Amino acid sequence: MYYPDNLVEEVRARNDIVDVISSYVRLQKKGSNHVGLCPFHNEKTASFSVSRSKQMYKCFGCGKSGNVITFVMEYENYTFQEALKLLAERAGVTLPEIKYTKEARERDNLKARILEAYKEAGKYYYFQLRSEAGKRAYEYFKDRGLSDDTMNKFGLGYAVTGRNLMYRYLKSKGYDDSVLKEMHIFYMNEREGMTDMFWNRAIFPIMDVNHRVIAFGGRVMGQGEPKYLNSPETMVFDKGRNLYGLNHARTSRKDNIIVCEGYMDVIALHQAGFDQAVGALGTALTSGHVNLLKRYTSNVLLCYDNDGAGTKANLRAIPILRGAGVSTKVINLSPYKDPDEFIKNLGSEELEIRLKNAENSFYYEIRILEGDYDLNDPDGRTRFTNEVARKLLKFEDAIERDNYLEAICTKYRINIESMRKLMGKLAAKGEGIPEYERPRSLVSSAKKDSDSGIRKAQKLLLTWLCEEPELYGQVDKYLNEDDFDEDIIKTVAGILFDQIKQGTANPAGIISMFTNEEEQSEVGSLFSTKLEKLNTKAEKEKAFKDILIKVKEHSFEMQAKLGDPADINRINLALENKKTLNELKGLRIVISE
Ligand code: CTP
Ligand code: MN
Repeated sequence: MYYPDNLVEEVRARNDIVDVISSYVRLQKKGSNHVGLCPFHNEKTASFSVSRSKQMYKCFGCGKSGNVITFVMEYENYTFQEALKLLAERAGVTLPEIKYTKEARERDNLKARILEAYKEAGKYYYFQLRSEAGKRAYEYFKDRGLSDDTMNKFGLGYAVTGRNLMYRYLKSKGYDDSVLKEMHIFYMNEREGMTDMFWNRAIFPIMDVNHRVIAFGGRVMGQGEPKYLNSPETMVFDKGRNLYGLNHARTSRKDNIIVCEGYMDVIALHQAGFDQAVGALGTALTSGHVNLLKRYTSNVLLCYDNDGAGTKANLRAIPILRGAGVSTKVINLSPYKDPDEFIKNLGSEELEIRLKNAENSFYYEIRILEGDYDLNDPDGRTRFTNEVARKLLKFEDAIERDNYLEAICTKYRINIESMRKLMGKLAAKGEGIPEYERPRSLVSSAKKDSDSGIRKAQKLLLTWLCEEPELYGQVDKYLNEDDFDEDIIKTVAGILFDQIKQGTANPAGIISMFTNEEEQSEVGSLFSTKLEKLNTKAEKEKAFKDILIKVKEHSFEMQAKLGDPADINRINLALENKKTLNELKGLRIVISE
């Protein structure tokens, strides 16, 4: 971690979470919380809740939770450091120069300079398009049906003809060759020095999710080769982690994201009202793209070109999306080649219908597969059936697998029982390994989805103690961090108990001791488990005690599994534990109104 804990804590404490989140999300006061529509998933009823007293947020729909720093990280797609910087500026806290190595600082400075230079270059192209010299390019965009608003929204520009106009311009703005070289929009030439990459091309700036220009695409106006010229990867541009148009699509209120191929497709879709469209820019969808998409949606509609390349792109993308748990459908653009053409010919309403009728990605895969076999020939049919069985085996979820099995067998008139037998045979031979591993994280998603009873009890206990820290004094002699079995919960419990002993529970402060979003969310959830609504004091006291006993029993069970069963100390310990449990059962917990 770069900054000292107390400074992180100061920045966090000086940014009230309700104020900060209110600048992004419309919140309404409801009881002691503020609620609104969750910015991290699409919903119609508000399940996103922000607590001023805890300085935390939690979405009861998608499960995301954390403190103000986590929120900025998630929302802005920032790193911990970037989020901290934003919040420090907002609260007027001066962060010290980070003490990292000279190389690291130089690298950061260079990156910042490259981004500035890109911004400057983008402005230059933008200006040229709207100048006399850019008239032809402007007409080109107009001819392709783009409105002024659309051109502005995407920051479209024009690179005038000239050997090194951009180079000289950026030089005049004070950028050194060391920075300009790293932009990779100039060619190095022995004789001529640095020359511009883009001459007389319509310019599409590529932006990251924070609207920062990080690369350019340039199209010839009319015919010519290459049709598109793209600036390559640089320190600030990673192709596999950026999607064209996501800076706009991320704030769309649609419940899906459309992935298409090209610049013009994205732009045409946005102009037609499909503001959830992004483009992979002629590259295959990578797991980096999918992870990025997953931040904003769990429904992807593939809208690649209606040709062989598009089909291939679909077939490659589907397993990656499926592996990441993203529900995927394929849009049929027939008889047109791409969304741009489709919209020009049939309009947005017709496309809306195609969106609604998009084909489930599994059916799509099978349908394409079918084309490779002659189903009227017994041999072809057998091979096809085998292939289908293999694909079915790739579903990890048994219920899902079974549903598809039935649907596909019905559709292709395959006997369900024979299919089951065939799958059993193949599975026995070791088939059915998932095509892609799910993205791994510290906290396995299985755990997140369905908390086991004991884990739930542990979380409830921590949430409860965080909300009513005065209860801790009544149970502290029975409870310590080792009663929790996962490392992260253990750590958090230890810190929480220390805080309470010192007088205050500060859950939001604990969250920012973790710098990775995944962990922050996990820690956040430890303090924001939904407590059941209990009416009477007696009910509450009983519930609290039950939870405590459950946690403690589990802790003793874990302990009992360690060591040699015949060890006399262990036997004594077991008897001790039994006594403690009995004591606990008789303990009177007092909850004040
Ligand atoms: N592409 C590229 N270089 C090329 C051709 C294509 O980088 N020589 C990328 C571009 O990102 C392009 C996408 O692949 O947008 C899809 O290619 P294509 O369908 O040919 O382009 P369109 O976006 O449909 O372009 P246009 O409508 O302008 O012809
Ligand atoms: Mn196209």
